[in-house]
Amino acid sequence: MTIPKPVYNPPFNVTRASHCVLTVKDLSASRSFYVDLIGFIVSDEDKSTIYLRGVAEACHHSLVLKQARGEPQAERIGMRVFTEEDLDKAKAFFSNAGLPAKWVEAAHQGRTLAVRDASGVPVELCATMEVKPRLVVAFGEHHGAVPQRLDHFQLLVPDVQKACEFWMSMGFRLSEYISPDGTDELLFAFLQRKGNPHDIVFAPGAGPRLHHAAFSIPESYHFFYVCDLAAEMGFADNVEFGPGRHGPGHALFVYLRDPDGHRIELFNTHYQVMDIENEPMRWDASVAMKRRWQLPARRQWFVEASRFVDVEPREGARKGEPMSLEKFIASATR
Ligand SMILES: [Fe+2]
Repeated sequence: MTIPKPVYNPPFNVTRASHCVLTVKDLSASRSFYVDLIGFIVSDEDKSTIYLRGVAEACHHSLVLKQARGEPQAERIGMRVFTEEDLDKAKAFFSNAGLPAKWVEAAHQGRTLAVRDASGVPVELCATMEVKPRLVVAFGEHHGAVPQRLDHFQLLVPDVQKACEFWMSMGFRLSEYISPDGTDELLFAFLQRKGNPHDIVFAPGAGPRLHHAAFSIPESYHFFYVCDLAAEMGFADNVEFGPGRHGPGHALFVYLRDPDGHRIELFNTHYQVMDIENEPMRWDASVAMKRRWQLPARRQWFVEASRFVDVEPREGARKGEPMSLEKFIASATR
């Protein structure tokens, strides 16, 4: 295997991870978790849908929760492109690749293109969204962890190499990657468009499934405050992993599961990576997953994730060489 080459002049201009849509069983329980505990701002809501944004976001929404029957699932992830012309170029790119690409109506968004990536992930692209007040200095509106903005998604996919090659062909650049010790096989691939460590991360596992959506928070004390508040509000068991410190990306983090089992990450302290000479940072698996000062992840963190609507997960193609997924998980959860 080889590390894919970056494409500096991509076929269309994706600017950043933008939003995601999750289905939930009980919207009032979700509201309690995301608004009363985490501190999201409500941009709009009705009986069946809540549109949320972080305090630093002027876009209408970065997280949409839709009440639905059945197993809670991820409906789609969203990416922003820069111009309307980029949307047309994206339509041609996906159509030429033989992948689904169609125009759809999406509330509070401009023209929206719904596509499937090479792994089967439902993705939607838009260039514009309704604008809302940016509340980053409206301190009276700040609450909980004070989520600032959506930063990235992590997906479990059966073939990380294939997913990485496809997204790099759209101009995403590899910032960091984890390989089995002494190899260049891609176990984890961290890809970015906006100039910080990642907009989308691919990890090995049955998929495609949404592992988490990540939101930045302002200060380190917010990690502990939101965990204290979670316990106070009866959400103690929803704190899944952390607070802790990542190796790749260098972030402080905490992962929480919402009332439907969807996972979100709260993090801070990402760094800047955008210059043309910036090469991907390689991590040996034994180093990347070595426990720093936090307690180790539970096994569920590696294997549990939200299914996408109408997408049947496929098992990973890994045959156990040079490192099986189970061996990797065992090394990280010890
Ligand atoms: Fe993350």
